[in-house]
Amino acid sequence: MKKINLIVVAFCVLGFISCQNSNTNNPETSSPSVSSVLEVEQKVTALLKQMTLEEKIGQMNQYNGFWDLTGPAPSTGAAAKKHEHLRKGYVGSMLNVRGVENVRKVQKIAVEETRLGIPLIIGFDVIHGYETISPIPLAESASWDLKAIKKSAQVAAEEAAAAGINWTFAPMVDISRDARWGRVMEGAGEDPYLGSKIAFARVQGFQGSDLSQHTTIAACAKHFVGYGFAESGREYNTVDVGTSTLNNIIFPPFQATIDAGVRTFMNSFNELNGIPATGNEYLQRDLLKDQWGFDGFIVTDWGSIEEMISHGHAKDGKHAAEIAAKAGSDMDMESYLYVTELANLVREGNVKEAYIDAAARRILRVKFELGLFEDPYKYCNLQREKEVIGQQAFHDAALDMAKKSIVLLKNDNQLLPLKKQGQKIALIGALASDKTSPLGNWRIAAKDSTAVSVLEGMQAYKDNQLTYAKGADVSLGKTKFTAELNINTTNRSEFPQAIAVAKTADVVVMVLGEVGYQSGEARSRTELGLPGVQQELLEAIYKVNKNIVLVLNNGRPLVLNWHQEHLPAIVEAWQLGTQSGNAIAQVLYGDYNPSGKLPMSFPRAVGQVPIYYNYKNTGRPSIPASNTVFWSHFQDVQNTPLYPFGYGLSYTTFEYTALKAKVVSNHEIKVSVILKNSGKISGKEVVQLYIKDHYASVTRPVRELKGFELVRLEPNQSQKIAFTLTEKELGFYDNEGDFIVELGDFSIFIGSDSNAKLHTKITLK
Ligand code: NOJ
Repeated sequence: MKKINLIVVAFCVLGFISCQNSNTNNPETSSPSVSSVLEVEQKVTALLKQMTLEEKIGQMNQYNGFWDLTGPAPSTGAAAKKHEHLRKGYVGSMLNVRGVENVRKVQKIAVEETRLGIPLIIGFDVIHGYETISPIPLAESASWDLKAIKKSAQVAAEEAAAAGINWTFAPMVDISRDARWGRVMEGAGEDPYLGSKIAFARVQGFQGSDLSQHTTIAACAKHFVGYGFAESGREYNTVDVGTSTLNNIIFPPFQATIDAGVRTFMNSFNELNGIPATGNEYLQRDLLKDQWGFDGFIVTDWGSIEEMISHGHAKDGKHAAEIAAKAGSDMDMESYLYVTELANLVREGNVKEAYIDAAARRILRVKFELGLFEDPYKYCNLQREKEVIGQQAFHDAALDMAKKSIVLLKNDNQLLPLKKQGQKIALIGALASDKTSPLGNWRIAAKDSTAVSVLEGMQAYKDNQLTYAKGADVSLGKTKFTAELNINTTNRSEFPQAIAVAKTADVVVMVLGEVGYQSGEARSRTELGLPGVQQELLEAIYKVNKNIVLVLNNGRPLVLNWHQEHLPAIVEAWQLGTQSGNAIAQVLYGDYNPSGKLPMSFPRAVGQVPIYYNYKNTGRPSIPASNTVFWSHFQDVQNTPLYPFGYGLSYTTFEYTALKAKVVSNHEIKVSVILKNSGKISGKEVVQLYIKDHYASVTRPVRELKGFELVRLEPNQSQKIAFTLTEKELGFYDNEGDFIVELGDFSIFIGSDSNAKLHTKITLK
């Protein structure tokens, strides 16, 4: 098989494409000038010279604050030392300290009471907003709107920065194909191409073009690496994946964050192929830092150094600290082991002091870049905090993002949009009036009951007769840490009232799904239906009124076979944040024409999971060549998902024609298609381009997304959409980790989802 990998290497050198062995310069990212980089390095060097071993190790130590907890509570013994360590300069960072007053308090200790006055870097999980909450990241990803996603991160950064925070533990760029895993809500879904574009946009949004501004904060690419591939989707579970999947599916979004200039990484809880990520020298030192050229710092995940004992990789805490430091974990989040063990390990000759110097250098570098040495209180302005947090412009951005995140899954007989006048509408479901659940998981700084509910959103349309009935609760859980969240209510006492309301309605809008905390960290599920008695409620209502619009609130793909078969209209509305109800109402009433597309496949059955569009063909693909049973399939369910990756409808329709592909050279394929809005209203479409590399030395998926464009068209308007494919899109990583392009046949598909039918073929000779 003829390869053109040499050419690709040349391109890498020129910085034209993202390659595993190079850190590309992206023109969109404004990198600091050479002189300012040198200046920072000189300052760091001068500071390091003054520091004792313990002070350098102190920079590598991160403590949780005294308020929120986002992991298991530490033992009181260790926790009691926090203040003492802060005063000695043995703490480099704190997480979960928020609000100007609190941040100022801890910063003051670091700056005014320690020997060298080195400021703290203050970390917080600003995942989809700070106090003004945007849609959960999976929902935002359904917009495929990179500008809006970047803007959402920008707003989150500005609001969090006003509250004293200068570092977010986001974006989570873990690819996942497993809806059982609760953390899919926090990522961009199943696809490395879309995931990379979104990862890039989010880092740019958080960090802006100048990290030293008081409106921007350092981003953190997490979790390095493989966390989204936990066996059976069970949280924190073992990960075992091969080289090809690592190189081609899992790594690319992380590489994209480096291209965007991300300043920090977080490693992951899981072991990868037998070695916990936190103790993995190859991943952290050799690959990330040396090969990819990442010069920021790596923080561990919460307590993950100590967890290497439970993994069966370290003998005790001291051994765990040694392994982590050698592996290149720069900062210890909440294991308390660097601060207690590292100095002795260095003195005994088990850990090189050069490793400590390098880690401290990386951390100090980011602090200088943030401008914390110039003004440690630059994020601590009480006046700004009051003025900035919750400002109208943030709510406007959250509403815009929320509308763009909604995916229309079904709309028979144009039941939607609803008429604005003269309709009797029954609104049913506990989630319809819920003002907290739409905030989703990871909204630590947002106050409960601050989201606009669907009920409130729909009440704004006054010329219809709207009647609300709860019907049934979802879960018994009240607080975010209770296991009760997964115990769903069995109370059916309010069914009759909901049935009565539905009976006389023209249309029934049912808002069903998961409570915000039923997805997210530590929220894995084995069933993917509607929790509790909601399905029963839905079927009871269906018996008296079939004109149902199902509005889903959920943090992961669900199994919706019954719904697809019986219901005329289904709207995927995820958990959309503070402006949730307004966004949903505007879509239901047609004031916003939905254009979202699924970033994850929706299975027909849990048994199909992991399910994803870019699967491999197998030797016996899912087309029965004969009547035998000997082909790759299930006996009881089709192989395909219910809703494929990239799927989503609009209130208008689009037609694709005239697909053309021209091989300009082996490095450049020009592709074009004509898109027409064939419906009656203005609408947006995500034009998606997929390729299939027919045969290769390492087998390629049946389809791979390699381009997309968001296009708005008026009725009857047509537009030519053009794409250029280069080595970057046509190549792949082989099992040695080299990026190569192999000549041969490629199919190109263009359409409105990953099942796009329109296709053409090209050959690279
Ligand atoms: C554990 C989570 O895995 C990680 O994503 C988060 O940033 C930390 N806790 C801090 O809250």
